[in-house]
Amino acid sequence: MPERNLTGNVVAITGGARGIGATTAVMLADQGARVAIGDLDQALSENVADGIGRGARGYELDVTDRESFDRFLDRVETDLGPLDTLINNAGIAPTSPLVTDQPPAVIDRTIDVNLNGVINGTIAAVERLAPRGSGQIVNVASLAGVNGVKGLSAYSASKFGAVGFTESIRIEFEGSGLIFTCVMPGPVSTEMMDGTADSPMIKLIPPEQVAGAIVEAMKSGRERVSVPKSVGALARLITLLPPRTAIRLNRLLGMDRVYTEVDRSARASYVERTTGDIES
Ligand SMILES: NC(=O)c1ccc[n+]([C@@H]2O[C@H](COP(=O)([O-])OP(=O)(O)OC[C@H]3O[C@@H](n4cnc5c(N)ncnc54)[C@H](O)[C@@H]3O)[C@@H](O)[C@H]2O)c1
Repeated sequence: MPERNLTGNVVAITGGARGIGATTAVMLADQGARVAIGDLDQALSENVADGIGRGARGYELDVTDRESFDRFLDRVETDLGPLDTLINNAGIAPTSPLVTDQPPAVIDRTIDVNLNGVINGTIAAVERLAPRGSGQIVNVASLAGVNGVKGLSAYSASKFGAVGFTESIRIEFEGSGLIFTCVMPGPVSTEMMDGTADSPMIKLIPPEQVAGAIVEAMKSGRERVSVPKSVGALARLITLLPPRTAIRLNRLLGMDRVYTEVDRSARASYVERTTGDIES
């Protein structure tokens, strides 16, 4: 496929008020795309869009609510024109050394935002894009959707779900002209990683690296993207190991501590923002 030019493309990005989403929004505007940010935090969406300028717009969106998603996409199409690409990026990552100690409402919200949000957005976008015979849906999952991660059972389940959903709908809509891309980053230096423990094996990547990979996948039409590629390759190798060996390797690499030995005070504001209404 020849490299596509993103100039004038209408791109909506969920969870675009912070972190990977906000960084991707800036990079897409630099490519000449018309960017719409949807986020739970409406004021921050609008501020980030104003900061980007170049016609970027910010909107309120709750990805867990299908009606909110339709309203968001209606507004985007009214203000910016027909949608070309939806990036389902919104996500939350509550940690708990044992998932059995995690409040059920926190588990539900994790699945609701990270999996149902992706399903809601993908379906809402496909309904608009399929009759036009072109467009792309980029779902930001995680390498926690390829390997299990201690301290992140519910998150990992939601990301395995997002990967499986993207892989399946791509088959269902084969020949429709739509492109379904699954982006699977390793740990990224955003607020989502606040207070997590270090591991000698984990090097946090900057959000610019994930944003760059998303932009590249939009230009090339690539459908499976691990960031960085080397960690994606390691994650896939680990799936081939016997489970007990994978657990030992996990411990050897210090991966078992990252989300279980968290610095509570360093993570307090992230927890407050994402699940504070349930956990406090
Ligand atoms: N940071 C990492 O280490 C990492 C690694 C792999 C994958 N990811 C994935 O990348 C995506 C972005 O993560 P990030 O690190 O930028 O996180 P972040 O916390 O910096 O930003 C996430 C944004 O999503 C928004 N959001 C949360 N719930 C929402 C909802 N119901 N509706 C709309 N918006 C909502 C938040 O308000 C926030 O602005 C997530 O899907 C995350 O799981 C992150």
